[in-house]
Amino acid sequence: MLEKIEKIKADINGFSGISDEEIEAFRVKYISKKSIINDLFEKFKKLSVQDKKKYGQTLNQLKRLAKDKLSSFSNSTKKQDAKNNSTDYTLPAEDDTVGSLHPLRIIRNKIIKIFRDIGFSIEDGPEIEEDWYNFTALNFPENHPAREMQDTFFISKNPDVVLRTHTSNVQIRLMEKEKPPMRVIIPGRVYRNETVSAKSHCFFHQVEGLYVDKNVSFRDLKDTLYYFAKEMFGEETKVRFRPSYFPFTEPSAEMDISWKDGWLEILGSGLVDPNVLKNCGIDPKEYSGFAFGMGIERIAMLKYGIDDLRLFSENDKRFLKQFRGVR
Ligand code: PHE
Repeated sequence: MLEKIEKIKADINGFSGISDEEIEAFRVKYISKKSIINDLFEKFKKLSVQDKKKYGQTLNQLKRLAKDKLSSFSNSTKKQDAKNNSTDYTLPAEDDTVGSLHPLRIIRNKIIKIFRDIGFSIEDGPEIEEDWYNFTALNFPENHPAREMQDTFFISKNPDVVLRTHTSNVQIRLMEKEKPPMRVIIPGRVYRNETVSAKSHCFFHQVEGLYVDKNVSFRDLKDTLYYFAKEMFGEETKVRFRPSYFPFTEPSAEMDISWKDGWLEILGSGLVDPNVLKNCGIDPKEYSGFAFGMGIERIAMLKYGIDDLRLFSENDKRFLKQFRGVR
């Protein structure tokens, strides 16, 4: 028996398996109920008291040895696992994942800053709007084409509720509830029922401007917009006003800026039509005002050389990443 014990001891000490299978085989062979050491214990039970004294200690030592060996494996695999999971500080740093502002947000912020510097405050209004605010109070004639289905998304008919087609609705909302003087800009999203293409989209963004006070003149309008154009596009920029038509301004003008070798239209503007003031409870004999509206996409396209409107709403990371670090 002693010989057998010595042989098993030597085997255990010499065991050098490391894989999970080898360790499991070790467990079955030396530790489990069917193990050879267990067999020896079964035999041990049948020995005489004298023999029990003789072998007991060695047999127990053998059992201890097998157990220690097994736990030394699991310790070393645990250590190995811990090592694999811990951070390796010698590896190169991960790619910088800081995002960027959306180009429309960058331009919107610039426009806001330019007007804030000369005393305009920022206002907001609903995108789902009643006919009164989007059209009627703005002096749109009853059968004006802009009210028709091809331009306007209707939420409901009779009473008409629409997705606003411009930010001018907020002019009415503000003039109805506040007394002049008022000097505000209104950035926001607008909707038109147009086919989506590189040049047009069913939603886009505008910034509306409204200034109402005593003795506001066309001169004030031109000075303000000239200042804006130089701040936005550079000191050298020239502007040109062309007569135009909007139901809610009289006279109306579109403003072009000098761009490369020619002129580019940048916004619509005019003096607030006396009818519009009246619709909002403001006396046109006492007050006058100017208003303007510009497209944010259009300005972003010019400034960044973007040629497809769809890029603004597709969330293509390759597009957006180019604005990293731009404020
Ligand atoms: N609301 C007009 C548009 O969407 C722009 C505009 C605003 C024109 C204010 C004049 C005054 O085209």
